[in-house]
Amino acid sequence: MLTKRQKQALDFIKSYTQKKGFAPSLEEIGRHLGLSAVSTAHHHVRALEDLGYLRKEDNQPRAIDVYQKEQMVRIPLSGTIAAGNPIEAIEEKESITVPRSILSRGGDFFALKVTGDSMVEENIDDGDVVILRRQNFAETGQKVVALIDNSEATLKKFSKGRNNVTLIPGNSKYEPITLEPDRLNIQGIVIDVIKTETRIETLPKITFTQELEVQSRPLPIDQVVCGDAIENLKKTPSKSVDLIIADPPYNLSKGNKLQWSAVSGYKGFGGKWNKVMEAWDNQSLSELFEFSFAWLSECKRILKETGSIWVFGTYHNIGVINTIFQLLEIEIINEVIWYKRNAFPNLSGRRLTASHENLLWGHVGKKRSYYFDYKTAKAFFSPNDLLKPEGKQMRTVWDIPNNKESNETKFGKHPTQKPLSVCKRIISVASKEGDIILAPFTGAGSECVAAKMLNRHYIGIELEKEYVDIAKKRLENCKVQTSF
Ligand SMILES: C[S@@+](CC[C@H](N)C(=O)[O-])C[C@H]1O[C@@H](n2cnc3c(N)ncnc32)[C@H](O)[C@@H]1O
Repeated sequence: MLTKRQKQALDFIKSYTQKKGFAPSLEEIGRHLGLSAVSTAHHHVRALEDLGYLRKEDNQPRAIDVYQKEQMVRIPLSGTIAAGNPIEAIEEKESITVPRSILSRGGDFFALKVTGDSMVEENIDDGDVVILRRQNFAETGQKVVALIDNSEATLKKFSKGRNNVTLIPGNSKYEPITLEPDRLNIQGIVIDVIKTETRIETLPKITFTQELEVQSRPLPIDQVVCGDAIENLKKTPSKSVDLIIADPPYNLSKGNKLQWSAVSGYKGFGGKWNKVMEAWDNQSLSELFEFSFAWLSECKRILKETGSIWVFGTYHNIGVINTIFQLLEIEIINEVIWYKRNAFPNLSGRRLTASHENLLWGHVGKKRSYYFDYKTAKAFFSPNDLLKPEGKQMRTVWDIPNNKESNETKFGKHPTQKPLSVCKRIISVASKEGDIILAPFTGAGSECVAAKMLNRHYIGIELEKEYVDIAKKRLENCKVQTSF
C-alpha cells in the first residue's frame, strides 16, 4: 500500500509524463508536493521504485519510467537449485508472485531458489530466484535446470554436441560436465531471474568533518529548521549543545528481499501493520550504517564535554547505533528500556508482542563530566510507572504507557511520535534549566515541546515540511511548566 505522499508523487509523475512526454525533475516533484528539500522528493521516488511502481536512472535528470501496475500471477516456488556442484533435488511447496508479462502464453512455469556461485558470470547469484518454463529439451546456449542420472539437480548453460551434451558453468572456477544425452533429464529452461537485494560486502567509506571544515552559523535557538539532519549538523559549531535527543528512522519499513514480492504486499517484521511505511524509514544495512555514522559523528563534535546524547531505537537499528557509539568512542552511560505496558498486540501471532523500545545514553567528555541530576531522578514519582517507587533510585527500565494526550496530537499526527512523558523524563534527568537541547529528527516536535515546557532552549531539525508545521504549531501553543 502506498502512503498518501507516495500516491501524490506517483499521480503527479504519471500525469506530468502523459502531458509532456517526459518525466518531471525531482525539483518539480518537490514543488508539487510542497517540499522544501529535493532530497525528500528523492526519498519518495526511491520508495516508489522499491515498491515496483517506477524506475529511475541514477544521476540522469527526468529519467523516470512509470510501470503500469501489472497483473501478477502465482507460480510454484518448488525448491532450491544448486548453481555449484549438483545436489539432490529438494522439493518444497511454496509460491511466488511474478508479473504475468514475463511468462509467455501457455506453458507450465515454476521457480527455484539458487544456491552457490557457479552462474555468477551469467548474473545469477546465490540467493536469486530463477523462473523456469517446464520442458524436457533445450537449445545450445539456453540455461537449464537438469537432473543428472535422475538424482542430482543443477543449473547450468546447455550445449548440444554430436554424441553428447555439456553443462557449462557460468564461473571459470568450475569445469564443464560432459555426459551421454540419456544421463541428462532436462526439467526446464530459465526464462528470467529475480535478483535479491544487494548485500553489504564492505563497510562504507567513513569521513569525519574536520573542525576546520565546519562552516558554522549561529545556533538556530528555539527554532525548528526544515532540512536534512546531517547537512544542518555540519553547520553547527563544535561543543555548543548540552543535550541531544535523537529519534532517528528505525528502519522498520525495510522492504522485502525479492523485488517483485514487494509489489504484492509486505511480509516480514510482523506484517504490514507494524511498519511505518515511510520513505525515510527504509534503508539497506549499509545505508543505515553510513547514515547513522555521519549524523552521530557530527553529534559527537557539537556536544559539550558536560553534555550527553540519548538515541531512541528498537532491535532494527539499535545494534548499529551501539556499534557506532563504540567506534566513535561515545561512552555508553546506560541503556534504558522504555517498557510500554499497553503495547499493541501482535496480529500475526508468530512472535512475542514487542513492548519496549531501547534508549542509548552516552557522553563524549574525557572526564565523565556529563550532567546527571541524580536527586531529581531519585525523587521522581509517577502513579503510571509501576516500576519506580517514590524516593528510590531511578532504574534503567521505565514503565511509561505509550499514550499521547489529546493535546499532543491536536495539530496533526506523526507515525512514530513519542509521548511527551518520555522526553520530559530524559530532559529532567540529563539537563538543567536554560540548557540547549537539540533534536536532529524532530518529527512532530515532542522533544522540543518537552524542552520548552521544562524551560530549556531547543533546536529542531526535520526533513518533512508537514511535520515541521505540526511541531511549530505545538511549540507556539505549549506552556512552560514548573515540574515534570
Ligand atoms: C522517528 S521520527 C521522529 C518522531 C519524533 N520523535 C516525534 O515525537 O514526533 C523520525 C523523523 O526523522 C525525519 N527524518 C528522516 N530522515 C531525516 C533526515 N535525513 N534529516 C532530518 N530528518 C529526517 C522523518 O521525517 C521523521 O519525522
